[in-house]
Amino acid sequence: MDKVIPIDEGYLFDSGVIVSSTDLKGIITYANRKFCEIAGYDKDELIGKNHNIIRHPDMPRIAFKGLWDKLHAGAEWSGIVKNLRKDGKYYWVYSHIAPVAEDGEIIGYTASRRPAFATEVEEVIPLYRELLEKEKIDNINAARVENVDKETDLIEIL
Ligand SMILES: Cc1cc2nc3c(=O)[nH]c(=O)nc-3n(C[C@H](O)[C@H](O)[C@H](O)COP(=O)(O)O)c2cc1C
Repeated sequence: MDKVIPIDEGYLFDSGVIVSSTDLKGIITYANRKFCEIAGYDKDELIGKNHNIIRHPDMPRIAFKGLWDKLHAGAEWSGIVKNLRKDGKYYWVYSHIAPVAEDGEIIGYTASRRPAFATEVEEVIPLYRELLEKEKIDNINAARVENVDKETDLIEIL
């Protein structure tokens, strides 16, 4: 599937509940009609795909780390997420994700989302921006350290 190019335009999600389920690795196993409508995909384009298919680049990585840490601990997670539609537009949700158990064993996860309130979005935008900036700087620094390591290796070889 072609890479989605984000455009700075919101898509209206103002009613209903978006539901999706995944396996333990975050591969989509179920998508309700609202999910398809709001994300802009057909059901068969979503089933079997990694849930990061709708990941928006404005979302800091740490937000998803928090999500997975909670889920791996057998707990539930909720938060505000900016998602990417197939047409490049974005939509904001308040998401609640819970583990799904069968015979006492966790077999996957289910997420339910309502539209995020404007106040919730306004609250997280500066926070996510700050976290994203920090991640970019950390990435640059990590790349520098890697280069220094490589140079050191090279010097040792020479
Ligand atoms: C049930 C469930 C629902 C998820 N819903 C979303 C979602 O709506 N948007 C999103 O970007 N990531 C969602 N994720 C997290 C993704 O699996 C993924 O971790 C995230 O998009 C970051 O991508 P990455 O892990 O490739 O960095 C969900 C995960 C689970 C288990």
